[in-house]
Amino acid sequence: MENLVKRAAKDLAESKYAIALTGAGMSTESEIPDFRGPKGIWTTNKEAEAKAYQRYELFRNDPKAYWEEILGLRGTYGTFHEKIRKAQPNPGHYALAGLEALGILKCVMTQNIDGLHKKAGSQRVLEYHGSVNAVRCISCGSRFAREEISLDELPPHCKCGAVLKDDVVHFKEPIPLDVMTESENEALQCDLMIICGTSAVVYPFANLPRMARFHSSGLVMDLDLVENKTNVRIIEVNADPTPLTHEGVSDYLIQGKTGELLPRIVEEVRKVR
Ligand code: APR
Repeated sequence: MENLVKRAAKDLAESKYAIALTGAGMSTESEIPDFRGPKGIWTTNKEAEAKAYQRYELFRNDPKAYWEEILGLRGTYGTFHEKIRKAQPNPGHYALAGLEALGILKCVMTQNIDGLHKKAGSQRVLEYHGSVNAVRCISCGSRFAREEISLDELPPHCKCGAVLKDDVVHFKEPIPLDVMTESENEALQCDLMIICGTSAVVYPFANLPRMARFHSSGLVMDLDLVENKTNVRIIEVNADPTPLTHEGVSDYLIQGKTGELLPRIVEEVRKVR
């Protein structure tokens, strides 16, 4: 393990354009359960998973009922959001913010809606699946901080007149174009990608490492068809191997907890810089 920590530190120190990709595993040490791990929300609550697949449709068909669910006036989803809003970053989040402050990490692209990277001080954070702290207009694309919006009357409306939605991206909902385009550009220009706490099975986010590896902006499914960009270092820090490990998209996996491993890696980076 120590060798892999030192190897990652050396790779980061030598990198010219390093980026981080993160998932729910980053926040389990902040008491927010992940989705597909042994104690994951989907693993332990199939009903919640089924409901999650209906949420975007609910918004489309009945935005008032949708907002009542979001605000916890219906069901348990609202309380889950409340729990997330109260959570605090853990040493893993602070380690990535530290790497950015050292000028090594250029951005964090996260699937997490909890806002903990920003709370930990990361400046450039692309929230690919949105945030519980914001609302978004699906017509004009404007985003507002949650507290800026009156929720006295549901559903709330944008200044353009359209109905506002929670910023969180639900299953079957298109990823907002601005964050999707920026994330793809980052994946295509990085020379190092460190992937932390994700099972890497949810698309289109899971395509970003393949885009970096194969330098292809299309959906990379047939590995024989694309050039393998060897000068990109792809490191996984995760409790379990993922399809990226098995397919050889990543160069190596450091298996363990992000809250323990990332601070050790940053400590080593400070030594070798
Ligand atoms: N340190 C490292 N890895 C961890 C830790 C930890 N402390 N805790 C859990 N893990 C690992 C799990 O073993 C699992 O491989 O993190 C991964 C989390 O995977 P998922 O639960 O699938 O979460 P994620 O990949 O972020 O899910 C993607 O799916 O449900 C949707 O929209 C939701 O953004 C989410 C997306």
